[in-house]
Amino acid sequence: MGFVAEYLLCLLLAVSSSWVQSEVDVLDKPVTELCLTCICEAISGCNATRICTNPEKGACGIFRITWAYWVDAGKLTLDGEHPDAERAFINCANDPHCAANVVQNYMKKFNQDCNEDGEMDCHDYARIHKLGAYGCQADMPYNYQISFEECIKNYEGYQGIE
Ligand SMILES: *[C@@H]1O[C@H](CO)[C@@H](O)[C@H](O)[C@H]1NC(C)=O
Repeated sequence: MGFVAEYLLCLLLAVSSSWVQSEVDVLDKPVTELCLTCICEAISGCNATRICTNPEKGACGIFRITWAYWVDAGKLTLDGEHPDAERAFINCANDPHCAANVVQNYMKKFNQDCNEDGEMDCHDYARIHKLGAYGCQADMPYNYQISFEECIKNYEGYQGIE
């Protein structure tokens, strides 16, 4: 096989396996672990103290998930708890694993290219998470943006941040 053909074959294999990979990711869990880490880093310092910072809207747990966000994401619950149970929301939002799944569901539902750079990546998820599905083109709060970008920079070069 000539060099060019071999090169094309390699390219094709690489591209098709990355298609399969990203298809699985998109269908299943669009947000990478590193991206989740940088979102929680920016929004709460990944502080796992079980706390709700806004008594009215919620804003609970490491992702500061609000009640409305949890509802939009499909009311996931911890340990088979009934979604209408009084503490169903708080129990899930304060559990890092349940909360991460809420974020995944929310992004699956609302993913969009907020910063219009032609890609759906962690920068868009960070916006959607903080600004909501319908306002994600707006400016991000300064502190949130700075800690998010610092976190991303720290992980630059690691695979899977996008
Ligand atoms: C986490 O949050 C709690 C409650 O706000 C606070 O008391 C604690 O100091 C925080 N922990 C860290 C490591 O920042």
